[in-house]
Amino acid sequence: MTSTLFLQSDIPDPYSTYKIMLEKNPVYWDETNKIWAIYSYNDCVSILKNNKFEIPLINPNNEQKLNKQALEILTHLTRLSNGIQHKISKEIAMLLFSNMRSVDINKIISQLIEDNLVKDKIDWVNSVCKKLPVLVVLKSFGFKEIDCDFISEKIESFVKIMLPKKTEDQVNFINEVSEKIYSVVEKHLSSLSFYNSLLIKISEEHQISIDKIIPVVVSNLIGLFIQSFDAGRGLLSNSLLQILSNKTFSNKIEIQKSIIETLRFDPPIHNTRRIAAEDFHIGESLIKKNDSILIVLASANRDPEKFENAISYDIERENNFENLTFGIGGHLCLAKHFSIHLATEALWFLFHEYKTIKILENNIEYEPLINARLPKNIWISITN
Ligand code: HEM
Repeated sequence: MTSTLFLQSDIPDPYSTYKIMLEKNPVYWDETNKIWAIYSYNDCVSILKNNKFEIPLINPNNEQKLNKQALEILTHLTRLSNGIQHKISKEIAMLLFSNMRSVDINKIISQLIEDNLVKDKIDWVNSVCKKLPVLVVLKSFGFKEIDCDFISEKIESFVKIMLPKKTEDQVNFINEVSEKIYSVVEKHLSSLSFYNSLLIKISEEHQISIDKIIPVVVSNLIGLFIQSFDAGRGLLSNSLLQILSNKTFSNKIEIQKSIIETLRFDPPIHNTRRIAAEDFHIGESLIKKNDSILIVLASANRDPEKFENAISYDIERENNFENLTFGIGGHLCLAKHFSIHLATEALWFLFHEYKTIKILENNIEYEPLINARLPKNIWISITN
């Protein structure tokens, strides 16, 4: 029997599994895990674009025993909400996002490299990928150095707040830091010039008191840190691996094309989930109300009906940009262009600044996660 849910750390090549499923069972009921898995491009798109498929609830009735602030954050994230609540929180997240100032990415990455380089060797994942995206977001909102240090240090464990199931240790850590993160972000927001007008705008537009809007704004700013961490880390890691193995680093445009093709070919995020709010037919399969669904984005990205010669890495392919790695429809990632820009600047800095970049390991290990394929370490040597 095929299991649709596996840890990326356990599978050397998930793409061969997706290929078999695409050919034999593109819409598959996994009886063991009681979940539908959707592998083809068109079916993934039709589910993601249909608001009858909702985001599943994490932590119903606070069964995970999160404290006040952690619960506040989880309840208000646009990424996890549906219906009118989603409309409001998405608008808030977009307003926050549009108020980010541009920052000098080169300055941040060069500092990270300088701080972590030991005799020409550096672990790209731990020294750069886990730090750069979240620092760029924090600095774009003008957070003080001390707050940047605190949040970027805690974020790796704090992002576990998004897991459908959490261990007791994870819950303890989340509860421990959420109070401080929440208060740091709330205080900083109130010092920003756009904050009051944002509150008034949302309050008037949706007839909600400002008191009720504040936690949604605080939570969604924290949400931007959370969202930037895993996926941002994975994009910087997987792109470096592909660029090195395909030698596509001769100029900045080639780097950008490589990143977009990496998003299709070897994406950081492999799947996302939905719950059916009513009965729905896909071909001959009947998805019933309340059924769980796994949307396998990384498989859709290699669907030969959508991408010609899908199993080959080709930065010149015309429709690479149509990959589903950032989702599509109402919950489409709002940082698609930001993430590609950030990765392009960072990787171009690396290849432009250093003449020789060599990978020092031939067996990449991945994090034990179901939804994301994230290298644990990538040791490289860099020399100019
Ligand atoms: C490589 C980088 C990234 C990838 C691959 C990625 C991927 C995704 C995906 C797949 C979704 C939709 C999930 C779904 O429909 O179930 C999403 C939503 C979202 N992303 Fe990203 N993301 C990335 C970076 C970022 C960054 C840097 C930020 C913030 C600074 C961000 C903010 C968001 C937000 C707020 C949502 C929720 C939108 C909504 O549900 O209304 N993402 N992202």
